[in-house]
Amino acid sequence: MGAQNSFLHFMHRFVFWVLFAMVSCFVLRVLIVLDLNKRIYNHTPGPCRVLTEKFKGTSGLAYVESQKRVYVTLGYGKAHNLTTNTGIAFYNTNRTDGRSQQEIYDLIEMQINWNGYEYQNMFIPTGIDSYSSSNGRVLLYVVNAHPDHQCIHFFQVDNQKLNYRKSICDSSFTSLQDVAVVGPDRIFFTNMAAFGRGWAQVIEFALQTGQGVVYYYDGTKLAIAAPSVNAPTGLGYDSKRKILYVGSLIRESLFAYKVEKDMSLEVMYEMMLLTSPIGLFVESKSGDLWIAAHPVLHETAWHYTHVDRNKVHSSSQILRIRIQEEGKSWVTTEPYANDGATISASSAIVYTDEQMIIGSTFGRLLHCDLTHAHIT
Ligand SMILES: *[C@@H]1O[C@H](CO)[C@@H](O)[C@H](O)[C@H]1NC(C)=O
Ligand SMILES: *[C@@H]1O[C@H](CO)[C@@H](O)[C@H](O)[C@H]1NC(C)=O
Repeated sequence: MGAQNSFLHFMHRFVFWVLFAMVSCFVLRVLIVLDLNKRIYNHTPGPCRVLTEKFKGTSGLAYVESQKRVYVTLGYGKAHNLTTNTGIAFYNTNRTDGRSQQEIYDLIEMQINWNGYEYQNMFIPTGIDSYSSSNGRVLLYVVNAHPDHQCIHFFQVDNQKLNYRKSICDSSFTSLQDVAVVGPDRIFFTNMAAFGRGWAQVIEFALQTGQGVVYYYDGTKLAIAAPSVNAPTGLGYDSKRKILYVGSLIRESLFAYKVEKDMSLEVMYEMMLLTSPIGLFVESKSGDLWIAAHPVLHETAWHYTHVDRNKVHSSSQILRIRIQEEGKSWVTTEPYANDGATISASSAIVYTDEQMIIGSTFGRLLHCDLTHAHIT
């Protein structure tokens, strides 16, 4: 009798401690994910200036080498009910074409010829990428984050105008983030979570169920390239080495996938970053990675839920990663960091010719000259 009693007593304690440990683990994990232990110290790699603050959001950037242009998506804040214009602009990085000091910092807004597209008023662009063909044709692929019209739109560039070509939309698109082009009309893109926004999404993230998806579209049909990814965000494609990089918001890491001949994805490795990657940029020659990140997630959460309060900032961070020996090791530097006062919630990055352009989720577009690019 006594033995049975003490056994029950033991089981009781045992179950209690196991549950206690599990709950503690979960709480600790949430605390770590929220980055409550982190502080950001401001620094820049050289002189910086604001290119525009007219729009609530400059959340997507794409660099086109043949034109030396950086295309910028404008007005993502509208997806969170902010009042702002939306659209697409470009910044010309050519410093040898004799423009004045004033003109070299101009951002040129593009006129969009929608060719009668019936949902043209439901356009909130965010992620963007480009394809340049050998005959000089430049195509843009743009994520539409409109809550009621999530699509990827296809455009062709005609100097300072854009011609709308077509769209892919699907009822499974709930939180489209970014797009990466691997060929003409062949794209990978991310859907971050099963729930588009709000508390349902917060709970989904807390449980870390990994309902995010990487899609592949081959020009005619849509397929799932990677199911159950944990909150995938930005994409970057290294076309020389055929590697697709996928950021994970919640894991604070980057997944590297080998893109096979049949366009299927094979996981190569996961790179822990300890910061949430949002926008990626791959330097085509070296394969170096640039990452625009949200380093402090509890600030990010607050920022995203109080978008209409100007005083609520979220820190910004840019990382540069030089990969050695196909992912066996890498060297990380931090060319830029800011507590959110200059630029809040950095979400896109382009680096070219010693110039760095940083976009943000709900705010400004920043341009910095790198005075010592080789050591940055
Ligand atoms: C934006 O406004 C619409 C209409 O007022 C509302 O239904 C929706 O929930 C709002 N969205 C957010 C993110 O606040
Ligand atoms: C940059 O400007 C120079 C001088 O005008 C021009 O020759 C060159 O073609 C331009 N580069 C590009 C990519 O437009």
